Amino acid sequence: MEKYPNLSKLLVKYPPLVDSYMYRELLHGDPEYLYKASLHLLRAGGKRVRPVIVLSTARMLGGLEAEQIALPLAAGVELFHNFTLIHDDIMDKDTVRRGVPTVHVIYGEDTAILAGDLLFALSFKAITQSLEKGLSLEGSSRALEVLSEAAVRVSRGQAYDMRFEREEDVTYHDYLDMIYLKTGALIEASARLGAIAAEADRDTEEALGNYGAFVGVAFQIRDDILGVFGDPEKTGKPIYNDLRRGKKTILLLYALAHSSGEDRRVLESVAKGNAGEDEVREAAKIIEKTGALEYAMKLAKTYSDNAVAIIEDLEKTGEIVDEEAAAALKELARFVVERDK
Ligand code: IPE
Ligand code: IPE
Ligand code: MG
Ligand code: MG
Repeated sequence: MEKYPNLSKLLVKYPPLVDSYMYRELLHGDPEYLYKASLHLLRAGGKRVRPVIVLSTARMLGGLEAEQIALPLAAGVELFHNFTLIHDDIMDKDTVRRGVPTVHVIYGEDTAILAGDLLFALSFKAITQSLEKGLSLEGSSRALEVLSEAAVRVSRGQAYDMRFEREEDVTYHDYLDMIYLKTGALIEASARLGAIAAEADRDTEEALGNYGAFVGVAFQIRDDILGVFGDPEKTGKPIYNDLRRGKKTILLLYALAHSSGEDRRVLESVAKGNAGEDEVREAAKIIEKTGALEYAMKLAKTYSDNAVAIIEDLEKTGEIVDEEAAAALKELARFVVERDK
């Protein structure tokens, strides 16, 4: 993390603040087993990237005061994110995340669905608590609107993600739209919420929203790369599960378009979602051979560069009150494509 001095500081400072707010203010009640199920993944770890974006953005535009107001908003996006992970692991049939068994594996699907629902509800409750921290009524109402819109987009994105498992003619454009919806929209909302905490004007909120959307798409491309080329010890997630399920990641789409003969036959079998273990392993080798990794990294970097450019533009307008937070957000846009977990 030496490459990211400003971001590293905030990655140390913010997660404990967000965690204690979530645990103290929101995550206790009856029945105990439901709250335990909701807490399971949160306690297992996670990078807390989304709340770090909320708090850094608030700090960049409104200093320490905005950072404090943003705390419930930061907790809200992390709760929402964990809700999506619990339900996502049911849909993707994934049994390990953050290095531990997933919620449905330990508590069963029924409880896992409820644990997700609870986190979903608490995420909106957290947003309303920003009023108590001193956010204006207008700001709180806008914050609810932003999280609601993100929630709609994530559902639509997850629906496309699932449907694409069974589709054979998914285009790069379809893929990019889908990952914006399932992942980009919540990261966009995180940056918008930080701007709202700082009572920034709508143009500034829009600019930050674009920053978040670019970061989010880059983030998901890297997630898809780590799903094939990552180290499960570091990611905390099993390797090749996207290939087992026939997920239409950019790696698979690129490799399909750049292979022929027996290689192409293996990739087509993977794309149908019914490949055996040998074919899955073979497909990973073929993907590497086609140069899909290099292509995907280049694509992710383009999005990351666009995100950096938005912060640089803001720096020229004189709206930034905290240069270190701005530097951290630029580092974060680079970090998401270079991360190995
Ligand atoms: C995983 O998100 C789901 C995606 C949107 C790719 P993260 O990589 O942020 O997961 P945690 O919170 O650090 O575990
Ligand atoms: C990420 O989905 C998006 C959401 C969870 C909403 P993925 O299925 O691609 O993420 P991982 O790899 O399981 O974390
Ligand atoms: Mg998944
Ligand atoms: Mg998924």
